[in-house]
Amino acid sequence: MAAIRPVRATNWHVDVSWQHQPPKATVLHAQEIPEGGGGDTIWASSAAVFDLLDADLAHYFEKLTAVNTFIVSPKKSALADLLSGYEIPEGAEENSVEAGLARVREAAQKYPPIEVPVIKTHPENGHKLVFVNEGHTSHILGVSKTQSQSLLNYLYDLIKTPEVQVRFEWKQGDFAIWDNRQVQHYAARDYGAAKRRIHRITLEHDGVF
Ligand SMILES: [Fe+2]
Repeated sequence: MAAIRPVRATNWHVDVSWQHQPPKATVLHAQEIPEGGGGDTIWASSAAVFDLLDADLAHYFEKLTAVNTFIVSPKKSALADLLSGYEIPEGAEENSVEAGLARVREAAQKYPPIEVPVIKTHPENGHKLVFVNEGHTSHILGVSKTQSQSLLNYLYDLIKTPEVQVRFEWKQGDFAIWDNRQVQHYAARDYGAAKRRIHRITLEHDGVF
């Protein structure tokens, strides 16, 4: 049986937003929490961020299309971080460079970059929300590279404002479940080399987002 590789979520993201239909919800179950604490999960409401936008600016963002891909983040310096939750091929050394490259090559073919709207609408509550995220959005189409990064940074800065966030301090055995379509999330990297083990389940999309 193939193993599932451990990962760290090191930037703001929507789970699996490099696929056209990302999971509708995510469930986490804390197995092992660092002794001194740390590794809190923080969620930001991407719908609340949309509401912060000036109306004209919101209208502009609504017309834009971006590109999402699983391999975008410059912060992901380790190959082992690239393929969150992917199976390790039978017989491969989990952390070898060769195994990492093989996984990247295979996944890049299986999941090429996709075009996504910068702003999406939640299928159940009708709320507009910011869908681009640091973890998976590489650029905005139709503008220069500099403009693209500036526009993305503008939205990312809003995601990082405390007014749209909630923070959860894990204890062993805790569960968290959230609507993956209308929040972005981040795990605080403040526990050094301590062990933090959290199981994840994602709920399949229903084809409408
Ligand atoms: Fe995640």
